[in-house]
Amino acid sequence: MDLRQYVEIVDNYPKEGIRFKDITPLMNDGEAYRTAVNEIVKYAKEKEIDIIVGPEARGFIIGCPVSYSLGIGFAPVRKEGKLPREVIKVDYGLEYGSNVLTIHKDAIKPGQRVLITDDLLATGGTIEATIKLVEELGGVVAGCAFLIELGYLDGMEKLKDYDVFTLMKYE
Ligand code: PRP
Repeated sequence: MDLRQYVEIVDNYPKEGIRFKDITPLMNDGEAYRTAVNEIVKYAKEKEIDIIVGPEARGFIIGCPVSYSLGIGFAPVRKEGKLPREVIKVDYGLEYGSNVLTIHKDAIKPGQRVLITDDLLATGGTIEATIKLVEELGGVVAGCAFLIELGYLDGMEKLKDYDVFTLMKYE
């Protein structure tokens, strides 16, 4: 199944010059969505994953069905102020300004093998921040899985010490 036909490219969104990769048509098609999720489930089995971690919001769309399918847990990484109990946080730079991501302090047990999921790897800032959170809690990042990798940005460079699985690459 060619999953690329379910990714809609939207020119000049959210701003001039950006070619946005819209994955909602993929999610909208039951078979395409299941095919994509199953590929990541297969990868997670190979890596003997104990728990999935995904950053909001689109990391949930990919990670939650994987965790459901494997019968393992899912820990959300959220923007500051969204998680109700004790958190640890990390600051990461955006093109303009910065952002804070948080995770519950008890979300991961030391030594657990973690798979981080997201829809898209662009600059790698989000995933790098998520890795920091997981490692600070003592988790082992055993893999990172994305639907899409943007080859023209340097996200992969930030992940050179980690195992990465992507379903589609755009140059
Ligand atoms: C998008 C995307 C990734 C991130 C990738 O999320 O879902 O999480 O950007 O970019 P990066 O590799 O340059 O960090 P966004 O921050 O737009 O949040 P959303 O999923 O809540 O829309």
